[in-house]
Amino acid sequence: MDGSSAMVVLLIGASFSFFLTTHAVNTPSCTPQERDALLSFKQGITNDSLGLLSSWRRGHGDCCSWTGVTCSSKTGHVVKLDVNNFITDSPLVGQISPSLLSLEHLQYLDLSTNLLAGPKGSVPEFLGSMKNLMHLDLSYIPFSGTVPPLLSNLTNLEYLDLSFTSFSGRLPPQLGNLSNLRHLDVSEMNNVYSTDISWLSRLHLLEYVAMSSTNLSKITDLPVVLNEIPALKQAILSNCSLPSANQSITHLNLTKLEELDLSLNYFGHPIASCWFWEVTSIKSLRLDETHLHGPFPDALGEMVLLQHLDFTSNGNAATITVDLKNLCDLESIYLDKSLSSGNITDLFDKLQCSSKLHSLSSSSNNMTGMLPTNMVHFTSLNHIDLTNNSVSGVLPRGIRKMTSLEYLHLSSNRLSGQMPLLPASLKIFHAQMNFLSGHLPLEFRGPNLENLIISSNHIAGQVPGSICESENMKHLDLSNNLFEGELPHCSRMRNLRFLLLGNNSFSGNFPHWIQSFSSLVFLDLSWNKFHGSLPRWIGDLVTLRILHLGHNMFNGDIPFNITDLRDLQYLNLADNSMSGLIPLSLSNFNEMTLKAVGDSMSTLAFDESLDTFSLAMKHEILKYGSHGVVDMVGIDLSLNRLTGGIPDEITSLDRLSNLNLSWNLLSGIIPENIGSMKSIESLDLSRNYLCGEVPSSLTDLTYLSYLDLSYNNLTGKVPSGRQLDTLYIDNPSVYNGNIGLCGPPLQKNCSSSSHEQEHGDHKGQEKDSNSMFFYYGLGSGFIVGYWVVFCALLFNKLWRVHYFCLVDKVYDKLCVSMVITWTKWIAKRNTTN
Ligand SMILES: *[C@@H]1O[C@H](CO)[C@@H](O)[C@H](O)[C@H]1NC(C)=O
Ligand SMILES: *[C@@H]1O[C@H](CO)[C@@H](O)[C@H](O)[C@H]1NC(C)=O
Ligand SMILES: *[C@@H]1O[C@H](CO)[C@@H](O)[C@H](O)[C@H]1NC(C)=O
Ligand SMILES: *[C@@H]1O[C@H](CO)[C@@H](O)[C@H](O)[C@H]1NC(C)=O
Ligand SMILES: *[C@@H]1O[C@H](CO)[C@@H](O)[C@H](O)[C@H]1NC(C)=O
Ligand SMILES: *[C@@H]1O[C@H](CO)[C@@H](O)[C@H](O)[C@H]1NC(C)=O
Ligand SMILES: *[C@@H]1O[C@H](CO)[C@@H](O)[C@H](O)[C@H]1NC(C)=O
Ligand SMILES: *[C@@H]1O[C@H](CO)[C@@H](O)[C@H](O)[C@H]1NC(C)=O
Ligand SMILES: *[C@@H]1O[C@H](CO)[C@@H](O)[C@H](O)[C@H]1NC(C)=O
Ligand SMILES: *[C@@H]1O[C@H](CO)[C@@H](O)[C@H](O)[C@H]1NC(C)=O
Ligand SMILES: *[C@@H]1O[C@H](CO)[C@@H](O)[C@H](O)[C@H]1NC(C)=O
Ligand SMILES: *[C@@H]1O[C@H](CO)[C@@H](O)[C@H](O)[C@H]1NC(C)=O
Repeated sequence: MDGSSAMVVLLIGASFSFFLTTHAVNTPSCTPQERDALLSFKQGITNDSLGLLSSWRRGHGDCCSWTGVTCSSKTGHVVKLDVNNFITDSPLVGQISPSLLSLEHLQYLDLSTNLLAGPKGSVPEFLGSMKNLMHLDLSYIPFSGTVPPLLSNLTNLEYLDLSFTSFSGRLPPQLGNLSNLRHLDVSEMNNVYSTDISWLSRLHLLEYVAMSSTNLSKITDLPVVLNEIPALKQAILSNCSLPSANQSITHLNLTKLEELDLSLNYFGHPIASCWFWEVTSIKSLRLDETHLHGPFPDALGEMVLLQHLDFTSNGNAATITVDLKNLCDLESIYLDKSLSSGNITDLFDKLQCSSKLHSLSSSSNNMTGMLPTNMVHFTSLNHIDLTNNSVSGVLPRGIRKMTSLEYLHLSSNRLSGQMPLLPASLKIFHAQMNFLSGHLPLEFRGPNLENLIISSNHIAGQVPGSICESENMKHLDLSNNLFEGELPHCSRMRNLRFLLLGNNSFSGNFPHWIQSFSSLVFLDLSWNKFHGSLPRWIGDLVTLRILHLGHNMFNGDIPFNITDLRDLQYLNLADNSMSGLIPLSLSNFNEMTLKAVGDSMSTLAFDESLDTFSLAMKHEILKYGSHGVVDMVGIDLSLNRLTGGIPDEITSLDRLSNLNLSWNLLSGIIPENIGSMKSIESLDLSRNYLCGEVPSSLTDLTYLSYLDLSYNNLTGKVPSGRQLDTLYIDNPSVYNGNIGLCGPPLQKNCSSSSHEQEHGDHKGQEKDSNSMFFYYGLGSGFIVGYWVVFCALLFNKLWRVHYFCLVDKVYDKLCVSMVITWTKWIAKRNTTN
């Protein structure tokens, strides 16, 4: 800071403090006694990491100007202290100092969301003496013990919030002495109960009561008690173990009740017998997870002020046939997983008056009928969920006129016909597993689309280029359809996380437009007709977890850069024409190792909104939840033309549950250390040119439930162990086509073939000491005869190709030139000797 700007700051500072002092002269200031009380309170705070109380300093102005402190404009006394910490996650830590007692005029005290329970964890006694308090908020302070009856001394209280504290035990009936109370929140404490709530009815002024998660299992007279509180506007009684709601009230006093929440109480009786249907003042009614059943009563149609009805997860035993034509204020209706049957045409018809309807949710309700064309008149509708029903017919053409619609969930229904133009406002469109057909509209236009999930339909033709205008797309799933042709180049869909195109007839090269997409997690191009080579930059898609390119016509090498994908947990290149070597640095696949489970499992939070994925595998629609994807850890490179050996590094992938390298041209031995791939459940190395012995460490694979080593060139004694023996019984062809294998459980006796025996001995020796062989080879002088030995040793680290194995052709040449170099070197050494 240079001199002049410092000066400016000083000037501003000076005028500011001048302003403060002049201001202070006009308003009464707090007394020294109150200031000291506040400073003592501050001393009780041991951690104030955000400096919330940093203005609380002696000599730092009038204490009325301190953060959180308010003084009366008439008397200057401190009347309000509000240090709640709701918006930060750095609470004040410490205890509440009794000095607060000196704030004799305090009316408002909010200490919520701070860790101020102190070492004892109990509410300080002196609070009971702060007789002037009208507002007391202790919520989210981890007080323990029972709710202190001393609070009932605060008879001026109008507002008391003890929610989310850790109090337990009985709610003190003395709370009924707080006759001025308007707002009482005792919800979500720790195992609080009440067996008699008649004290509530003494709170005649009560407008708000919340007792969620208080055990009221013995309370059978709730409506009777509530009915004696005529001022009551809101009653929140969720998860209270209330036994029933089928009481009857003779004279209804509850004319002001607007919000009633009885969710998560297991009533299990007919809906029609509930007491609240007569309360026509109700605007918000929550009955989710109450297991009420039977038809909704006609009285529902009389609740003309109703805005929100939540009746979800009640076990498909209710029906709603009542006339709703008078519910003109209805904004949301949630009926998911609750109806035994229904007709969507009828439902929309009944809701004609509800022009403010914002959300309509009726998933998993066995609904039939068709989407009526007049549904497009619900221009306030923002959210429609009809997932998992039997809704049939076509999507109304006019749907694009629903200009508020953002969420449209229609998957698992019987919708047919062509996809219409979607509303421009739409963000989420899920319509997988229907019978949609025809082409996508050419002018697709979904500028706000984030999810377009239309897998498992019969949609055909090319994907229109206009789809690329959806630049916010995160999840595009077109799999299991009849799409064909090349993909449009949607290089602007940079937020794409899921691109699922499996099981169509797409053609063309690997989509180069996804290069440098920095959020891509899931790429499925399987079962299509893609061709060409895989780009090296595939290793730049570092967020990839699932890469399924199987069953296409890709060729060329597997780019070694693929091992840059540290988060990759599933790699499938099966059934292509890939050639060349398996990449070496497989241990880079961090997510395929168990050490990843500790550090990055939390990042596996697959997209919030997505509970099912569809992925085409073996022409079956495998549906799996997000957990299924998380568990899917595997490598499938089968049915290609891969050559070379199986890299030893593969054995570090100890989280891999599936490894399939079958039907390739792989040579060399099976990595000896294969037993360290602890999580392997399925291992298929069949139909290659693998040689050498079956490593005995195979018996360490305790989860192995499928093994195939058939049609290789394996030799020696088959290892035995309980797991392997069982596998052999289940699938006796495990070792077929390896003429060199012997010993039980195979018929062939190892000692029956002397050649085999010799071979085995030889090998054992070699296993014991590679270096011995090296010297043996040197000393014997049969250098050319043992050229493969050298190659094996030279490439030992990479390939562990043993001297008696058939080496891949490409490496033959390389080895020969190496051997020549060696021969020359040795010849030179001999001459110099
Ligand atoms: C104080 O609280 C902050 C955040 O709540 C925390 O990071 C810090 O470690 C605490 N300091 C002490 C000394 O406890
Ligand atoms: C609460 O009030 C009662 C009676 O008015 C009194 O005896 C008691 O001391 C008070 N308790 C506290 C903690 O102030
Ligand atoms: C407070 O309530 C209890 C019972 O709930 C009662 O016995 C007591 O007399 C009441 N105290 C006052 C001061 O009203
Ligand atoms: C319901 O209340 C019990 C205690 O009575 C509590 O353990 C549980 O977490 C609550 N459930 C919900 C969903 O709030
Ligand atoms: C509620 O209390 C009753 C005993 O009064 C007990 O049987 C029941 O398990 C409690 N419910 C919960 C959810 O804690
Ligand atoms: C309804 O309220 C009136 C007056 O507020 C009261 O006298 C009456 O007892 C109440 N009725 C019931 C059933 O509680
Ligand atoms: C209320 O429902 C309970 C079952 O939840 C049942 O036992 C009881 O008989 C019902 N009472 C009335 C009056 O219908
Ligand atoms: C679905 O509704 C039909 C009648 O529309 C009924 O026969 C069938 O039992 C219902 N299925 C379920 C699971 O409720
Ligand atoms: C689909 O809805 C039916 C009731 O109609 C329900 O039984 C079933 O569990 C739901 N399926 C899914 C996957 O939610
Ligand atoms: C659904 O309701 C409409 C209108 O009431 C009716 O025409 C249609 O036949 C119903 N569909 C089914 C499957 O019941
Ligand atoms: C591939 O990896 C190599 C070495 O890790 C690196 O030098 C090269 O830039 C990478 N290529 C691409 C296209 O990412
Ligand atoms: C099997 O290995 C032997 C040498 O042990 C070799 O001669 C033979 O060619 C190999 N066969 C195949 C099919 O690789």
